[in-house]
Amino acid sequence: MLNLETTYMGIPVKSPIIAGASALSSTMKNLKRLEASGVGAIVVKSLFEEEIELSRFKFEKDMEKYEHVHAEMTSIYPRIDYEGTKEHLYWLKKVKQEMQIPIIASLNAHSLDTWVEYAEAIEKTGADGLELNFYELPQNPETTAEEIEQHKVEILKKVKASVSIPVSVKLSPYYTNISNIVKRLEDAGADGVILFNRLFQPDIDIEEEEENISFDFSQSADSFLTLRWTALLSPLFKGDIISSKGIIVGEDMIKMLLAGAQCVQVVSTLYKNGIQQVEVLTEELQAWMKEKNYQSLEDFRGNMAKDHMKDPWAYERTQYIKMLLSKENL
Ligand SMILES: Cc1cc2nc3c(=O)[nH]c(=O)nc-3n(C[C@H](O)[C@H](O)[C@H](O)COP(=O)(O)O)c2cc1C
Repeated sequence: MLNLETTYMGIPVKSPIIAGASALSSTMKNLKRLEASGVGAIVVKSLFEEEIELSRFKFEKDMEKYEHVHAEMTSIYPRIDYEGTKEHLYWLKKVKQEMQIPIIASLNAHSLDTWVEYAEAIEKTGADGLELNFYELPQNPETTAEEIEQHKVEILKKVKASVSIPVSVKLSPYYTNISNIVKRLEDAGADGVILFNRLFQPDIDIEEEEENISFDFSQSADSFLTLRWTALLSPLFKGDIISSKGIIVGEDMIKMLLAGAQCVQVVSTLYKNGIQQVEVLTEELQAWMKEKNYQSLEDFRGNMAKDHMKDPWAYERTQYIKMLLSKENL
């Protein structure tokens, strides 16, 4: 057995394979299986403030129906405001108590205050680290990109000042200048940046003329954007670059580590191939390292990052133009 030990957001882990946030973390059975399969750490599915608001809203709507039966009912009923949050926090605490490997919580909130309030509550559950899931869909045409980005930087600064556990941020690829936002988040104290979240997009059923939720899992080909940015940013960024999206087989993971990833997060491959895929990924990594005579991840991590490339333009625009102009591609 070769040594796969490393760190994740500064936390020692025995493998660079991290189970990313998903509903797989909703049952203890799956969590135990993930641990037994050899993942380095598990990110528990996000606490979404929006989801809690929605369930509160639905509850209040339901309660309105009964107001004529009992006028006081809504006020005497135990306050539901934070029931959803409490449930999530209770689950995190239980998971932390039952698992040996590091447990990372994930949060998606709205306002600066609630990001901080929820982060503090999460820290109290004993979670080893916190991932800020910066997913949002800005729709106000008056809001500028700078305002949105600065808001994220402020959130991170405030959360970092309020908790002592490591904090990472999970980004979507939709920024005008990824390098700039990553640099600003690093300056604001990010212990890791996860590249990238995969956003589910809506679809339309043209027969029924109604909305359709499109849901498909990632494939290896979805990993190239992450690979490019891992290679470009890993030499510049002092915190961890954690690669995510489309890491399905061992080869996808090895590429990310060569590009300089500290660790990788996997989700789709666990849904598609079962939790035992972690063992397959581990075996494939070990077999490749053995063949290459590498003893540890440090022996090869970043060998294909931008600063180590024979062709320094390989991850840049020139390569794209070269490919478009090449006769072989016609
Ligand atoms: C069923 C499912 C549930 C997910 N839930 C969350 C979540 O709660 N929070 C989050 O940040 N990402 C969530 N994700 C996104 C994954 O963590 C991951 O970033 C994304 O799927 C890309 O990785 P992959 O290509 O390995 O699937 C979810 C993904 C799936 C498929």
